[in-house]
Amino acid sequence: KRLVILVSGRGSNLQSILAACRSGQIPDTQVVAVISNRPSARALALAMAAGIPALTVDHRDYGTRTEFDAALQKQIDEYAPDIVALAGFMRQLTTAFVQHYEGKLLNVHPSLLPAFPGLHTHAQALRQGVCWHGASVHFVTAELDAGPVIIQAAVAVLPADDEQSLATRVLDAEHRIYPQALAWLVSGRVTYAAGRTQWREPPQ
Ligand code: GRF
Repeated sequence: KRLVILVSGRGSNLQSILAACRSGQIPDTQVVAVISNRPSARALALAMAAGIPALTVDHRDYGTRTEFDAALQKQIDEYAPDIVALAGFMRQLTTAFVQHYEGKLLNVHPSLLPAFPGLHTHAQALRQGVCWHGASVHFVTAELDAGPVIIQAAVAVLPADDEQSLATRVLDAEHRIYPQALAWLVSGRVTYAAGRTQWREPPQ
């Protein structure tokens, strides 16, 4: 399967997905391109070091969200992906873009959705005093951070936790669940239908 990864930052999720493709945890799958909206994203350097096409579609070059998304979609489709994975991609995508990739567009969010959508999720968790926090991988739909969940990992919030210590443990969880979600999608164990995550049991 052909995987395009969209990034904006350091690329730690990209790194764990690349490792999972190499190890076969995500079977018969290769990352065919890494695309960032920020030219300075470290994730682009990681892609180049791995010999993977690394492109920038800089949102500052476009007047509207629609124009940016159209340019991004054009670049993505040149790689004919089976799956597009948002990995630390910090742009909200238009409905038209999301619908174009419906059922094959995934995102990782650093909370146990539907809790704490949006930004600063660890600060939200600490402020609320929750005992459990975590990470979610979900299908992307038009509503931000509200698509059907594929997999989650729970992380205990410890008394001594601050945003940084919590973020570190949640990020570790992301690195475990994103490859697992992609492996299930590639193998057909999960699909997206009628706005829901659909499960197919493995052949006995
Ligand atoms: C993670 O915190 C993820 O939850 C959020 O952005 C960060 C991705 O970091 N979407 P990286 O670029 O994959 O290291």
